[in-house]
Amino acid sequence: MLSSTRNATNVQMSVLLKKQHARVGYMFYNKNNCRSVSTTSAKAAPSAPKEGTVGTTGGGVSSFTTTPKIINHSQSSNKPNVVVLGSGWGAISFLKNIDESKYNVTVVSPRNYFLFTPLLPSTPVGTVDEKSIIEPVVNFALKKKKGNVSYYEATATSINPDRNTVTIQSVSNVSQTKGDKPNLGIQQNDTCELKYDYLVSAVGAEPNTFGIPGVEKYGMFLKEIEHSLKIRKQFIANVEKANMLPKGDPERKRLLTIVVVGGGPTGVETAGELQDYVDQDLKRFMPSIAEEVQIHLVEALPVILNMFEKKLTSYAQSVLEQTSIKLELKTAVSKVEEKYLIAKTKKDDGSFTETTIPYGTLIWATGNKARKIVTDLFPKIPEQNNARRGLEVQENLLVNGSKNIFAVGDNAVAGFAPTAQVAHQEAEYLCKVFSKMSNNPSVYDELANAKDAKAIQTVFAKNGIKPFKYVHYGALAYLGAEKAIANITYGKRSFYTGGGSLTFYIWRVLYLSMILSARSRFKVIADWFKLALFKRDCFKEL
Ligand SMILES: Cc1cc2nc3c(=O)[nH]c(=O)nc-3n(C[C@H](O)[C@H](O)[C@H](O)COP(=O)(O)OP(=O)(O)OC[C@H]3O[C@@H](n4cnc5c(N)ncnc54)[C@H](O)[C@@H]3O)c2cc1C
Ligand SMILES: NC(=O)c1ccc[n+]([C@@H]2O[C@H](COP(=O)([O-])OP(=O)(O)OC[C@H]3O[C@@H](n4cnc5c(N)ncnc54)[C@H](O)[C@@H]3O)[C@@H](O)[C@H]2O)c1
Repeated sequence: MLSSTRNATNVQMSVLLKKQHARVGYMFYNKNNCRSVSTTSAKAAPSAPKEGTVGTTGGGVSSFTTTPKIINHSQSSNKPNVVVLGSGWGAISFLKNIDESKYNVTVVSPRNYFLFTPLLPSTPVGTVDEKSIIEPVVNFALKKKKGNVSYYEATATSINPDRNTVTIQSVSNVSQTKGDKPNLGIQQNDTCELKYDYLVSAVGAEPNTFGIPGVEKYGMFLKEIEHSLKIRKQFIANVEKANMLPKGDPERKRLLTIVVVGGGPTGVETAGELQDYVDQDLKRFMPSIAEEVQIHLVEALPVILNMFEKKLTSYAQSVLEQTSIKLELKTAVSKVEEKYLIAKTKKDDGSFTETTIPYGTLIWATGNKARKIVTDLFPKIPEQNNARRGLEVQENLLVNGSKNIFAVGDNAVAGFAPTAQVAHQEAEYLCKVFSKMSNNPSVYDELANAKDAKAIQTVFAKNGIKPFKYVHYGALAYLGAEKAIANITYGKRSFYTGGGSLTFYIWRVLYLSMILSARSRFKVIADWFKLALFKRDCFKEL
């Protein structure tokens, strides 16, 4: 936990255990020796053990009860407690903009850094270094000097709207180094509950495999930094292995085949970057290997990048084909085995042909689905019972059926595409909502007493809180070979639509402007200079 009001290098615990809200948990070992946990209110429990203690109950094979700790930051001040889940686009944009003098802010995320996802496809082949596109949460927290901002490196495992808490599970061991207040005191994998007055859920989404067999086991995603490292390691290992085999050996061909599944922007940009590495680097020192590398881009729809207008998608397709990426359109992967996958292509007469594609590296980029913590919340709020893709929110980003849980970014269903620019704008907007509420604290009570969604809207409207309005600034995608496509807009007005080398430089400038920190921006510029002078750093283990 980091507290920006004190010396951040002195990791301190400024938490209080809220004894009157103690809950009782039951933990047993079932017959298969698997541990299961359930929690109930202390009031309902026949005899609540002392908070934080572990006792035993009769009946089960080695069963015992424990009381999870409840952490309540607002006990030490009268400011509302805002707990933010995540450290991605939504959460960090919220952290940057929230007025910490008006709220106690606690950020919970298993990832202690922000990741600038738009340049993630550039990292597996070393066009940009992984470290250049991440920024520690502490660097954002340190700038919040007017109040308490805390960060826990933990995974939120459950949102408990019935008692306004989030159950969190520590990723690492923590211990108190200074101060006389009780510390969080949870060991690795232990859980405790964080009390919130307002919760901002920004946990994003996770890769969707659509349940296709073999994908989880053999495919690689590109959503987090560790995915980038894994792709590089496997691809370079395959190149080295193939180099040991004679030309014409089918195993050599397999090892040098990369299949990227999903012709959305993640798949296209990743395929383009890999082809750049082959054409601009591998060709210099392993020319015979380079000419045998074959990248397939498999897309179920008849077009790639279907969020762009037809003129741009046709241009994108022609660029990819010129750079020797093989486009497999109207082709859906249905099964993945260790060394090959099966895909079905829809023919013009409506029938299907089945193809087997041997691969050495498989990158799976078919979009996202809701995370477990989000789907687990659906049954707890009646208005979310029919939700599927994420938390359905009102026009003020308040989760339908809740008066104090807001959702931003990919875990919110607000009628917009799951993009960084949406998450960023939603978080900025939400900070304005919080600012208006703090200027007129009676809103807190009015909101709490509102009977239904309509009454909530009336409270917001009465207090000058307008609905969220998204402004679309357009879309950009890198294609490889120093070419990009872009459609730059301001809302419904279009300013630039084009593709090619000039657009590639526009793409670079706009992505630099989107980076959230000066340090990261500097490092990315340095990487691009280094690329021009020395080509890519693409080492297997690094
Ligand atoms: C390769 C790639 C390139 C992209 N390029 C672009 C682009 O150019 N432009 C664009 O607009 N969009 C782009 N996107 C989409 C964009 O990254 C997402 O829309 C955006 O990240 C959504 O922000 P978010 O805050 O909702 O989620 P994320 O940024 O994914 O952040 C989620 C956070 O929640 C944390 N978390 C997860 N589970 C838990 C939990 N249980 N408890 C606590 N924390 C948790 C994660 O560690 C992470 O910190 C790209 C996406 C990818 C994968
Ligand atoms: N440059 C950018 O602006 C950028 C870059 C990356 C991601 N994003 C955003 O992030 C989100 C996710 O993007 P994404 O590219 O990861 O996913 P996506 O949902 O945009 O695209 C996934 C693609 O996979 C295809 N697909 C699904 N199942 C398949 C199967 N079995 N076989 C073959 N193809 C299959 C789908 O038809 C779809 O075209 C989107 O909102 C996107 O706009 C934006």
